[in-house]
Amino acid sequence: ADRFDLVVVSNRLPVDRTVGPDGTSGWRRSPGGLVTALEPVMELSHGAWVGWPGVPDQEFEPFVAQGGSRGGSFHVFPVSLSEQELERYYEGFSNATLWPLYHDVIAQPLYHRVWWESYRSVNGRFAERVAEIAAPGATVWVQDYQLQLVPRILRRLRPDLAIGFFDHIPFPPYGLFAQLPWRRQILEGLLGADLIGFQRAEDARNFSRAVRSLLGLSSRRGTIEVPADPESGMGAHLAVFDDYPISIDAHEFEQLGRDPEIRERARRIRHDLGDPHRVLLGIDRLDYTKGIRHRLKAYGELLDEGRVHVEDTTLIQIAVPSRERVETYRRLRDDIELTVARINGDHSVIGRPAIQYLHRSFPRREMAAFYLAADILLVTALRDGMNLVAKEFVATHVDNDGVLVLSEFAGASDELKTALLINPHDIDGLKDTIVQAMEMSPAEVSRRMRAMRRRVSEDDVERWSDAFLARLRAVSDDNRQGL
Ligand code: G6P
Repeated sequence: ADRFDLVVVSNRLPVDRTVGPDGTSGWRRSPGGLVTALEPVMELSHGAWVGWPGVPDQEFEPFVAQGGSRGGSFHVFPVSLSEQELERYYEGFSNATLWPLYHDVIAQPLYHRVWWESYRSVNGRFAERVAEIAAPGATVWVQDYQLQLVPRILRRLRPDLAIGFFDHIPFPPYGLFAQLPWRRQILEGLLGADLIGFQRAEDARNFSRAVRSLLGLSSRRGTIEVPADPESGMGAHLAVFDDYPISIDAHEFEQLGRDPEIRERARRIRHDLGDPHRVLLGIDRLDYTKGIRHRLKAYGELLDEGRVHVEDTTLIQIAVPSRERVETYRRLRDDIELTVARINGDHSVIGRPAIQYLHRSFPRREMAAFYLAADILLVTALRDGMNLVAKEFVATHVDNDGVLVLSEFAGASDELKTALLINPHDIDGLKDTIVQAMEMSPAEVSRRMRAMRRRVSEDDVERWSDAFLARLRAVSDDNRQGL
């Protein structure tokens, strides 16, 4: 059997299994920032990607994925989940416990012991699968909050590996993290890695505080001495943590922004909207962390007050379906769709809806056309690890002609400083900023966008992964030579 020098492991594979109403099945690109960032990296590496194909109770053979934009390929190793594991490990512990807890408890996290048990055993299965296919001394890169126990389990199984972990979402402040009944096990799980990466410096600080308070381990310049664990046979090692803000394949989106076909498609979208003077855009997975309600509230009030008119302005809201069986997500969808319908009922005129609401996902080229068609992108997240939609919008606007309204609670606000930064909880502030964006002079639009484009094209995702992997190999070499 093949063994690989680079293995990436994430809960979700870059492709999802789909089954149509007529029973035919196929593969579709998965939603979310993790896949957006890692797919181009994997295409260049010819490594292996271990993950779940998005449907329960089905076994799939490993296969080779022909990549997207870069024409490369990588090996895919599907891990199957039972219906019960889907409920307990994925919908339960990952997305009804950790997700809300790590996003500032915007929704109430639920703590259920059977969910935790399932999380533990599924993490074990992912680790075992990786251990089977990793070549001697290989680099393994574990992704995100669904797999925080994998680094330690893997170190026990395969002490020869270089093990990295990257957290795509925020790491919560100590006062929140401390709620978690299994807080110590999570930290010990992460500390099985040689290198632990976070989006923002603040996340790294929160982590180090939790490790100190709960495990009594202090860090010196981002390095923690992890003691040996005689019980499991794990030796002592150094674990390094740092912030590595993630990015996108900037070059690809620049090319899309220059593509005549996509530019024509963008013009067509505006034409079909009735050539409004201003097009505003929101694109999010349908998630309560994204602040879609706050955005709609602000927009609805602007219409009520006559500061925005449907005759010359349209808001496109694309809501990508996500985690649809989880109760909080269902309620959110009902709530948003009710609000959109009310605003449209109050304000639309025939042929001119106030809000164009689309609940589905789109291929990347169509997304690029939406970015180009929009004058203003509204990113109003209440908490977001990074928000790659903001970076994609910036990279696509090669004519420097878009305005980004960006929540200061999204990681991207650390880098995109010439965006119009907002606090989404401050509805009046948000409204004023939307109006400011609509009235901004072309010269200022261009000055702000130019600065953001420079930043995004310098810090693209290849640089992110190169930096992370180089550091990981250095730390792991030190560890393997012995403390
Ligand atoms: C976020 C998470 C990813 C996740 C994605 C989509 O970006 O950080 O780990 O894959 O959302 O969510 P889903 O639950 O559908 O995988």
